Order: sequence, then C-alpha cells, then structure tokens
Amino acid sequence: MIGPTGVGKTEIARRLSKLVNAPFLKVEATKFTEVGYVGRDVEQIIRDLIEVGVRIVKDISKKSIEETAQHNVINMIVDILVGESALPETREKFKKKLENQELDSKDIDIEINDTPSPAPSIDIPGMPGAQMGMFNLSDLFQKTFASKKKTIKTTIGEAKKLLLQDQIDELLDMDAVHQNAIDLVQNHGIVFIDEIDKICTRQQHKGSDVSREGVQRDLLPLIEGTSVPTKYGVIKTEHILFIASGAFHISKPSDLLPELQGRLPIRVELQPLSQSDFVKILTEPEHNLLTQAIGLLKTEGVVVSFDSEAIDHIARLATVANSRIENIGARRLHTIIEKLLEDISFNAPDLIDKSIVITKDMVIDIIEPIVKKQDLSQFIL
Ligand SMILES: Nc1ncnc2c1ncn2[C@@H]1O[C@H](COP(=O)(O)OP(=O)(O)O)[C@@H](O)[C@H]1O
Ligand SMILES: [Mg+2]
Repeated sequence: MIGPTGVGKTEIARRLSKLVNAPFLKVEATKFTEVGYVGRDVEQIIRDLIEVGVRIVKDISKKSIEETAQHNVINMIVDILVGESALPETREKFKKKLENQELDSKDIDIEINDTPSPAPSIDIPGMPGAQMGMFNLSDLFQKTFASKKKTIKTTIGEAKKLLLQDQIDELLDMDAVHQNAIDLVQNHGIVFIDEIDKICTRQQHKGSDVSREGVQRDLLPLIEGTSVPTKYGVIKTEHILFIASGAFHISKPSDLLPELQGRLPIRVELQPLSQSDFVKILTEPEHNLLTQAIGLLKTEGVVVSFDSEAIDHIARLATVANSRIENIGARRLHTIIEKLLEDISFNAPDLIDKSIVITKDMVIDIIEPIVKKQDLSQFIL
C-alpha cells in the first residue's frame, strides 16, 4: 500500500485485523535489524504471530469448555461443603444455592494450583531474542512447579473464580491448542509491515545502510515461504499474507530490493484524502473524532455538540491547512479539533451542566486566523 502520510494506511490495517478473525500482526519495518546484529530479527514476526494465534485458539477453546468447567466447580464446592456422601437432595439444594450466588460471601477452604510467578526471562548471550524462540526458561520453570497445590481460605464467590481458572487449565488440551494455532497461523495469518519505505536504500546512500538492506534481504524468505522454529513448533510461512505499507515520499517502491518488489506483486495506491473524505471521517465511523471529543468533555460535565456547518468548515480548514503547511492527511483533523476545543476544555469547571453548540462561526473565529498565519500555524496546527 502506497500512500501519503495520514491517508489511513495504518487505520486500514487496524480495521482489517478486527474484521478478519485471523491472527494479525502489525510491525514497523524500522524496528528490525539484520540477523546477526543486535536487535530484533525478522523471524520474531512469526514468533509474535504464533503468540497471537495461540491467544485466539485458546479463547475459543476456553469458551467451549467453560460450561463443563463451571459444572465441575459447583460439584467440587458442594463436595467441600457437604461431603461426597451427602444425600442427593442435600447436594441439589446446595447446588441451587451456589448457582444463585446465595453463598458467595461465606468462607471456604479450597485447594488450588500453586503456580509460581513467571521467572524473569534471560537473554542467551550472543543470541539476542533467543529466549523467545525455541525454548523459554520461564515456561520450563512453570512446568516443573505446575503440579504443586496449596490450600487457601477465601469466600465462595472468590473460590468459584479461582477453581474455574484451574479447571479450565486442566481441561484445556494445550497440545491441541498449539497445533490448531499453528494451522491457523500458517493458513490465515496476516502480517502488516508498516513503514517499509523507511528501510529502502536510496541509490546515492549505498554503503551506509547495509543493515537496512539486510532487513529487506531477511524478509525475502519469510514472504516467499520458509520454516521458522518457534516454541510451539515449526511454522511454514508460504501461505501467510504479507501486506507492506509506506508513504514512499522520499524513496520509491523501485528502491526496494528487486527480489522484494517481486514478492509484493500487488500494489495499491491510496489517493490523498479530500474535503468530503474528511467530513465522512468526522461523522461516519462509530467512534469518530467528534464523538470522542464529545465523550471526553462529557467526563468533565460539559455537553458539546457540533452543527453540520461547523463540521463542513472543520473539513474545509483541514484541507486548507494541509495544502498550506504540510499534507498530514486526516491527522490534521486531530490537531484542529484539539485547538477548537482547547478553551472549552480549559474552562470546563465553569461550564458544568451547560450545553455548547459548536457553530461555523466559532470554527472560523478560532481556527481561521491560525491557518492564515503560516508561521504560526506551523507550531499550532
Ligand atoms: N479513511 C479513514 N477513516 C477514518 N479515520 C481515518 C481514515 N484515514 C485516516 N484516519 C485517521 O487519521 C489518522 C492517521 O491515519 P493513519 O492510518 O495513521 O495514517 P497513515 O497512512 O500515515 O498510516 C488516524 O488517527 C486515523 O484514525
Ligand atoms: Mg502509518
């Protein structure tokens, strides 16, 4: 995805991740260093992606066993309260009470798993990031101690939660979770590499940017398809979808390594946002900038609203500011709204319980002088 700053490249990635229920990871290309140098190597992307996959599969699996676990917990508590040999009617009576939360404030002694707090992760000298890779020391420690139990006194309400957690851990088949997570990541995983243009070497700078070119070179096998060892198993990357994005205002896509260009064959160009796009951005999303601003002021007890002419004018001035100062796309809307509401926000304590309608005239009064004075607007908007 090629497009100027502020057109919503990162926003698209963020929305995409919510829409597709697939393991999704967004990374900044600039955060990585060539294999062998100190820093994060690109295989970390896959190790992080599988963590996302494991979380997704674990959540789904947990939901599917929750009912059974809940049922077991109630039985366990009844056992403690009345004993296993109690009359069936007595047990039923207690079950009902427990299910209706009637006994939640009573005390009870329960036995729960005694998991030690995770051991600090230790970097293996000479292999930065290795503790995240094939094996994980804190995991090893946890496994060794996992079977220990401890008895604690707590309320029944609290006991239900603690025992449920233990039950879920016990019922959860982690090997199956890991295997399913690997399948999910291999077939549906999406990696979004932001700021790819920042790891381009421009022709004239060759030499000083070896490491950046190294990162591009390291990305090649990952995108083409390779096997990455992780602590859950080996992940094949052939079918993982890679999306790269960048503004490319200094470097060009053709400055990327030719092999990398070949591996990102579909190019989408995003057009700069127009004034009418700004109006849509301000009004259409469920949690748009205006509802956010309104919500923020509401926490201070001030009720504000924007009339539609004011919204049109905010969009217009954002466009003007973008063309005069620097085109920062929809980010300009943030700065304008911030400035517009600055005084109201500052005076909020005096405005409690008042409702204020932001009109076109207010937008003109507050924003237009700043947009007109170029050197001023550079600092303020
Ligand atoms: N099409 C859009 N709809 C809603 N909000 C948008 C849109 N485009 C940009 N924005 C907002 O503008 C800001 C900058 O967008 P971003 O995605 O970070 O731009 P970039 O293309 O530089 O990655 C974000 O706060 C985002 O919410
Ligand atoms: Mg971005």
